[in-house]
Amino acid sequence: MNLKGKVAIVTGGNSGIGMAIVLELARQGANIVIDYVVHPEATEELASQVRALGDRCIGVKADVSQVAELQNLVAAAVKEFGRVDIMVNNAGVETRTSVLDTTEVQYEKVMNINLKSAFFGTQLAAQQMIQQGGGGRIINISSVHEDWPMPGNTAYCLSKGGMRMLTRTAGLELAPHNILVVGVGPGAVATPINAGTMNDPELLKKLNSAIPLGRMAKPEEIASLVAFLAGDGASYMTATTIFADGGIMQSSPGL
Ligand SMILES: NC(=O)c1ccc[n+]([C@@H]2O[C@H](COP(=O)([O-])OP(=O)(O)OC[C@H]3O[C@@H](n4cnc5c(N)ncnc54)[C@H](O)[C@@H]3O)[C@@H](O)[C@H]2O)c1
Repeated sequence: MNLKGKVAIVTGGNSGIGMAIVLELARQGANIVIDYVVHPEATEELASQVRALGDRCIGVKADVSQVAELQNLVAAAVKEFGRVDIMVNNAGVETRTSVLDTTEVQYEKVMNINLKSAFFGTQLAAQQMIQQGGGGRIINISSVHEDWPMPGNTAYCLSKGGMRMLTRTAGLELAPHNILVVGVGPGAVATPINAGTMNDPELLKKLNSAIPLGRMAKPEEIASLVAFLAGDGASYMTATTIFADGGIMQSSPGL
């Protein structure tokens, strides 16, 4: 087990990609802090699955768009487990609105949940990792849209573009502490965030036919990459993004 005894925080950890990451890190031996904002029962069920794997786990309710709540999240991890080795900034939302009609409320929601949370999540986790010593891993769940424009989803693309530079810049700043910062850029993944597309057979067919591998990713196919990046095999990777997108970025401009 690659991550035996490590302590990982996963934000937005009780559904979709976050849930798959929680389970995969736990399979690799990590103790887990599941951050969530809704569905405490899903968090408790997931925590039971982690415990059944032989690892320790707590759920912490924290809205990561609020720095004070992020501070509580990191403090809860340290109180329970004494340290933080892996921070996965995964929580994210989108509004599917264009630059012409995105409201201030929508803009701030997307930027605060997607980017501000990752910025301060990185800061707070890194401060703890420096204090405890021995380095650490910060993994930002970005998107192909950190590079790839998506008309009709402007604020989301902006937030992920910001995450791209957070990963690169924080990766350089934190390298002397052996804290590695890596982005993961999924393509289309079958999770609740894509319910609209998945429930529309025409849209789903169009999407699948644009993906060279012919289908959306399963959340587990993103989680396995995150577990690799959290482990010893990725000890020389920092300040960059790894894409897991079924080839779509190379083939379908303007989907
Ligand atoms: N599904 C995809 O196709 C896809 C592709 C690329 C990137 N991503 C990214 O993956 C991440 C996870 O998304 P997902 O696809 O699993 O969707 P999801 O909707 O299942 O997960 C998002 C999670 O974030 C949580 N969240 C929302 N606001 C929060 C807040 N203020 N504080 C804490 N948690 C909050 C939600 O409750 C949910 O658990 C997101 O950052 C998303 O942008 C998803």
